[in-house]
Amino acid sequence: MNLSKFEDKLPIIKNLKPKEKLDGVPYYKIRMQQFKQKLHRDLPETTVWGFEGKYPGPIIEVRRNEWIKVKWINDLPEKHLLPVDTTIHGAEPNKPRVRTVIHLHGGVVRPESDGYPDAWFTKGYKIVGPYFTRKIYDYPNRQRGTTLWYHAHAIGITRLNVYAGLAGPYIIRDPLEKYLNLPEGQYEMPLLIQDRSFNDDGSLYYPTGPQPPVPNVCPSIVPDFFGDTILVNGKVWPYLEVEPRKYRFRIINGSNSRFYRIRLSSGQPFYQIGNDGGLLETPIIAKQILLAPAERADVIIDFSNFRGHNIIITNDAPSPYPRGNPVDSTNEGQIMQFRVSLLLSQYDFSTIPYRLSSIMPLFEKDARLTRNLTLVRETDKYGRAFLLLDGKRWDDPITIKPLLGSIEVWSLINLANSTHPIHIHLVNFQILDRQPFDVEHYKKTKKILTTGTAVLPELNERGWKDTVRANPGEITRIIMKFTPYVGLYPWHCHILEHEDHEMMRPFEIVNQTF
Ligand code: C2O
Repeated sequence: MNLSKFEDKLPIIKNLKPKEKLDGVPYYKIRMQQFKQKLHRDLPETTVWGFEGKYPGPIIEVRRNEWIKVKWINDLPEKHLLPVDTTIHGAEPNKPRVRTVIHLHGGVVRPESDGYPDAWFTKGYKIVGPYFTRKIYDYPNRQRGTTLWYHAHAIGITRLNVYAGLAGPYIIRDPLEKYLNLPEGQYEMPLLIQDRSFNDDGSLYYPTGPQPPVPNVCPSIVPDFFGDTILVNGKVWPYLEVEPRKYRFRIINGSNSRFYRIRLSSGQPFYQIGNDGGLLETPIIAKQILLAPAERADVIIDFSNFRGHNIIITNDAPSPYPRGNPVDSTNEGQIMQFRVSLLLSQYDFSTIPYRLSSIMPLFEKDARLTRNLTLVRETDKYGRAFLLLDGKRWDDPITIKPLLGSIEVWSLINLANSTHPIHIHLVNFQILDRQPFDVEHYKKTKKILTTGTAVLPELNERGWKDTVRANPGEITRIIMKFTPYVGLYPWHCHILEHEDHEMMRPFEIVNQTF
């Protein structure tokens, strides 16, 4: 489908207001539903899934330390909008097709409120997954202020549920941030970037299988999926009219598989002030920013010298990243347009302060242990390529049991040929370094032979992260402290087609080791 660009206004996602209280705290009831929405001027209405009648879902905004409760209500139809592959773990033919559970990505929450993949439920909780324990989730928000996002996480159909539309922004605002005098109010907003493809009738297109097809499996999962159309906040290639002043954008890559390497067509830089885990120590002046699925960038763009200009956010990340097809610069190579067409309505008093926050480093010498964890490509029993973490499947016995309060280093050894964004639930981590190694030698001997020096993380990665890009042929080392809760959590590749096809493992934080 070839849709013309910059025809529709960027939707400004609204904050959801809680209507009730429960146990003295704000209580949200949030309904997941199927409905039709106009995604582009020239496209017939598209049937999507969303929250409270909206795709993407509304913003949930809280203050740091403000406890809230959320009841995620499954009000979806019985029939799935997209092709369900019943050969995938958790999606077997005896399972209901439409199951959901919602995970707050980057949230520090107890396991029962984390949206465990096997804690799914159907409409009216008629059928629930084996790990389902509660209907109402607790979000204490006792963590750094940052941009999180909530999205569907049911085992075996996460790629489909998120693609159908089940995602939305979640902002934890640190009251102290206001002393930084960053752009705020109408000059601050999230930008949720997602790629989609459409059929002529306006319906969402998602493949029923790879090309060439897999014998005896239809529908079949695909190794990855890249839509040919880019949406921001639920509109295809939108535009935003801005004043000649500073704006703050909380950019979220909410795509299934696509990476974006963004730039501004005006040649001006982004001032990156934050990433997954909140504010950096100092702003980074960046000509380009790379975002893997689930990564976030908090940026300030200064339009003050660009009165009358149209500025496009472009993208040149190959898919798969980094060795895949170059992008078509006339399509996926463009994301949205800013039109610096409004008059300055008031003097811009906002600033980009030199000092934003302090990041306490975690030290390797304090680590209780280092785990070597491979990312490796295998073939499943239908002959399909898929990827495993540590050579194990989702249902294999739990092998990672960090001690509560302990620090560990995880060395992610990527033996595959593309970059995998690895997300760990509950904890925020720091990236120590990345080092190239001899992949073939490792495959033969299981021994690491490094072939270059260890490189420190990028400037905009030197803060708290919950998703890290593990590049092919590199060992990516991260360090984290397993706190404040015990229990079961997943870690996985955030390319949703990989997560759904075994590239996800549980880990269990324990009080003592035996
Ligand atoms: Cu954003 Cu386990 O996911």
